[in-house]
Amino acid sequence: MSSTEEEKEGTTTAQLWEAAAQGSLEQVQKLLEAGADICEGNADGMTPLMLAAQSGHAPVVRALLQAGAPWNALNPSGRCAGDYAMEAGHQEAFDALLDAGTQAELILGVVGRQEEKKEVEDGDHGKPYLQQRVEYSEGRLMDEESKGVMMAWEKPLMEAHAKCLCGAGGDILNVGFGMGLVDTAIQGYSSITSHTIIEAHPDVYKRMLETGWGEKPNVHIVFGRWQDVLPQLGTYDGVFFDTYGEFYDDLREFHECLPKLLKEGGVYSYFNGLCATNAFFHVVYCQIVALELAHLGLTTQFIPLPVKECLDEKTWLGVYHKYWQLDTYFLPFCQTKTEEDE
Ligand SMILES: C[S@@+](CC[C@H](N)C(=O)[O-])C[C@H]1O[C@@H](n2cnc3c(N)ncnc32)[C@H](O)[C@@H]1O
Repeated sequence: MSSTEEEKEGTTTAQLWEAAAQGSLEQVQKLLEAGADICEGNADGMTPLMLAAQSGHAPVVRALLQAGAPWNALNPSGRCAGDYAMEAGHQEAFDALLDAGTQAELILGVVGRQEEKKEVEDGDHGKPYLQQRVEYSEGRLMDEESKGVMMAWEKPLMEAHAKCLCGAGGDILNVGFGMGLVDTAIQGYSSITSHTIIEAHPDVYKRMLETGWGEKPNVHIVFGRWQDVLPQLGTYDGVFFDTYGEFYDDLREFHECLPKLLKEGGVYSYFNGLCATNAFFHVVYCQIVALELAHLGLTTQFIPLPVKECLDEKTWLGVYHKYWQLDTYFLPFCQTKTEEDE
C-alpha cells in the first residue's frame, strides 16, 4: 500500500469512529465500502462497534456486525461492545450483540473448547488437578499452583444454591465437595430424604471422612469422578454441580446426563463461573447454557445475587488466578419441564 493509500484509509477509519458514535448508518456504510478499518480502535482503544454500542445506535451495531466487526474485541480496559450497551441500558443494541455472540460461540466456541482440552492432554497446563496435592487453610482450599479450588467468599452463594435445591425436599445430589459449604447448607434442610455427594480428589475425600461426613445418617459419599460413578446412581429431586479443573465441555457432558438423573419437576443448578472475568461474555454463556438445557428439556432462570459485599481487598491475596471479577452472580435455577410447561 502506498503512503497516500495508507493516509486515505487512516482518514476513512477516523471518519468511521465518528459516524459510528453519531449513529449515521448511511455514512458508516459508505466508509466501509471505501475501505475503512472495521476492527481498529481509536486512541482509547474504542472500535467502531464499541462506539455505536455505547451510544445505543442499534442499526449501526447491526450493520457493523454484519460487515464482520468482532463482537468479542476487548479494549485496554477489558470491555467489549456488549459491556457498553449493557452498562448504558441500550436494550436493542445489547440484544443484537448478545445474538451475535451467542451464534458465534455456538459455532466457533466448540473449536476453542476442543483446543483447550487438547492443551491439557498435551500437558501444557501442568499436572492434572486430580494428581495434585490440595491444601486446606483458613477460608480456602488451594491446589499446588496456588489456584483457589474453593474459597469462603462463596459461602452465601452456596447457601442460596442449597435453598433452591432443597426447597421441595427429597433426594439431593451434589457433585464436588470442596470445602463442604453447599453440603453444610443442604444438611440444614430437614425436608431432605437423602444427600449424595460425589467427590474425586483423594485429599478432599480424606478430609470428608476426618470431619465426620461419612457418619451422617442421610449422607452417602461416592468417591470417584462423576464421569465414572454416575451410572451407579439413582434419580434426584435436586442436583448441584460444582467441580474444579474441568472445562465447559465437561459441564455440557454432565448436562447431557441430567434427563436421566433428575426426577420430574426436579431442580438443577451449577456454580455459574463461566467467563466470569467479563460481564458480557458471562451473559453470553448464561444464554448458551440456557439454550443447551432447553434442548434437554429444562427451563432456566437466572437469579441475580450481589457479590460485591462477599469480597474485600484481602480475598485474592496469594491466589494465583482471580477467577471471579463481576459484581453480580447469576444463580441458575433449572427445572425439568412438567406436562404443564409443554
Ligand atoms: C469448587 S470445589 C466444590 C465446592 C463446593 N461446592 C463447596 O460448597 O464447598 C470442586 C470440587 O470438585 C471436585 N472434583 C473435581 N473434579 C471432579 C470430578 N470429575 N468428579 C467429582 N468431583 C470432582 C474437587 O476435588 C473439589 O473438591
